[in-house]
Order: sequence, then structure tokens, then C-alpha cells
Amino acid sequence: MEELVADADRMGRIRDFAWKAGPDLPAHVATYPSMLSSIERRMLRWLAAEHYTGRGAICDLGAFLGGSTIALAEGVRAGGHTGKVIHSYDWHRISERSWEQWEPAISRPYPESGKFLSVTRELMGDLADLVEFHSGDFSQMPPPQSEIEILFVDIAKVFATSDHIVRNFLPKLIPGQSVVIQQDYFHVWPPFDVYVMEVLHDHFEPLAFAKTSALFINVRAVDSAAVESALSRNMSIETLRGALEAAAGRWPQEQGAHVERILRSLDGLDRAPQTKRILRRTTKGGLTLAERAEKAKWRAKRRRRKALRGLRSRD
Ligand SMILES: C[S@@+](CC[C@H](N)C(=O)[O-])C[C@H]1O[C@@H](n2cnc3c(N)ncnc32)[C@H](O)[C@@H]1O
Repeated sequence: MEELVADADRMGRIRDFAWKAGPDLPAHVATYPSMLSSIERRMLRWLAAEHYTGRGAICDLGAFLGGSTIALAEGVRAGGHTGKVIHSYDWHRISERSWEQWEPAISRPYPESGKFLSVTRELMGDLADLVEFHSGDFSQMPPPQSEIEILFVDIAKVFATSDHIVRNFLPKLIPGQSVVIQQDYFHVWPPFDVYVMEVLHDHFEPLAFAKTSALFINVRAVDSAAVESALSRNMSIETLRGALEAAAGRWPQEQGAHVERILRSLDGLDRAPQTKRILRRTTKGGLTLAERAEKAKWRAKRRRRKALRGLRSRD
């Protein structure tokens, strides 16, 4: 009973956006090179310090130079946990051009090979002791052996990574305890975060948000049937549209409006190259009637445009 009250209290604090009232980020985290906003890093730090119990692992999927990882590590340390409890995944590879953009914050020369994991370790200092780094193609990497308590997703940019998370990471969550943070949820693209969480809406309850990140509590074990339902091979334009429409209604107006922007980008089919890719991919294994109709409509539109251009050029 006491445990249940404690759990309810912890969830209540997430629902209350408790990190906003929490301490500011320490300077070495606040100034660390990161693509995340400061409020997102505060939220990660807070979750690792206040929500994390040590029962499972913390996963940072898509760490880049480690801005999300160091925020989590700082929280883990504040919570008094030790050992390599954070699993941080990335290619750890960068082009010289991108490095130049980040160089003022990194203050290190470009690594000749383009591989920067050693720089990340150096920048993190002793907080790196709390991290197991996984370098290379995430979609080929196994999840940690333990359960997962905090799952931060900043890597679901394409089908392969989204499917890998659904297959191998979601089944490791602890119902009633694990928190999933979907960083791209309120971005206009990609739509995978919204799609997966919506298809699995009876497994995840929305809790809060921070900038473009959406936070969910896992309420039901993700079994093989649930995994199958959320894989991209079962996504069509119709199911994606339905998921986006339903998801828009689950959040306060401002956040719902961001989800609606993704919907609108679907309507501009010929303007979004990623949407074309979705169409191609969802139709790979055989077309459903609805997909065929959508694709035919799209092709007809292009043909009409081309014909019109031809007519104009003759005038
Ligand atoms: C938006 S960035 C992450 C930003 C980071 N969380 C931060 O705090 O700055 C996404 C990261 O995902 C990584 N990524 C994308 N696809 C990947 C893959 N298949 N394998 C490994 N890393 C991948 C990229 O290398 C990139 O660093």
C-alpha cells in the first residue's frame, strides 16, 4: 500500500512538471554541447534524480555528443546511484562541417576519423563512469539485459530505428514505473513517436511535456501482439492519419496544435519527401486498397501538374 502511494506520488510530481521548480542545471551540464533545450535537460536530470529507483536501466537513445546523457548522469549521481546504469547509444560519428558548428562549445580539434566517443568521455569527466556507451548502428544493437526504467528516445527518425525500439526496448519497460520520453513528439517531423505511442495508447498514459518532448508512463506490459501492432510494416497513411488525429486530442491545445501540424504536412503529400518514403515503404509488402487509392491520387495530381506545365510552356 505504501509503495502504491509512493508510486502515485512520483507520477503526480511528473504530472506537475516538478522539474520546473527543481534546481537549475549545474554549469557543466548547462554549457555542455547539446541539441536539447535547457528545460528538456532539466527534466531528464530531475527524472534520473527523483524518479529513478535503480531497479532497471536508463537508456539514452540518440545521445549525439552526450548532452542528454550528461543530464541523466548528473541526476543519477544526485540520486546516489552508482555503476554503469545509463546506456547511451549513438553512431558517435560526425562530419568536419558539423564539428565546426559545435566547435565553440567543444573546444577540441576535429577527430581525424570523425569518431568522437573519446571526446565525449573526456567532456563528461567522472560522470562517464555512470555510462555504458554503445557506438555504431543503433538498429543492430541489443538493449540492456535488465529492465528499463527511463527510456529517452531521440533516435526514432526512420523506420529502422523506430521498429528496433518497439521490438527490443518497449518490452523491457516496467508497468507502473517506467517513463518513456519521446523527444520528437511535438516536432513537425518525423511522426514515428506519435504513431507508436498512439497505436499503443492503452499501454502508455501521457504524463507531461517539455518543449518538443512528451512523457509517458508505461501502464501495461508490451507483449508480442502489441509489438506487432506498432511496427512500421503495419502503418499506412490511413492508420498514421488516424493516430495523429487521436493524439492531437490527448494534449493541451498548444501541444495538440503541434501534432496537427504533422497532420497538415501529410496533406501536402507532394511537398514532404519523407511522406513519399512512408508511402513507398508502407506499400512495399503489398498494397491495401486505401493505400493504392492514396498513391493513385498522388500520382494523378503529379501528372496533372506536369501536363499543365507542358501546356503553359507551349503558350
Ligand atoms: C537529435 S540527435 C540527439 C541529440 C542529443 N540527445 C543531445 O542531447 O544533443 C540524434 C542522434 O541520433 C543518432 N542516430 C540516428 N540514427 C542512428 C543510428 N541508426 N545509429 C546510431 N545513432 C543514430 C545521430 O548520430 C544523432 O547524434
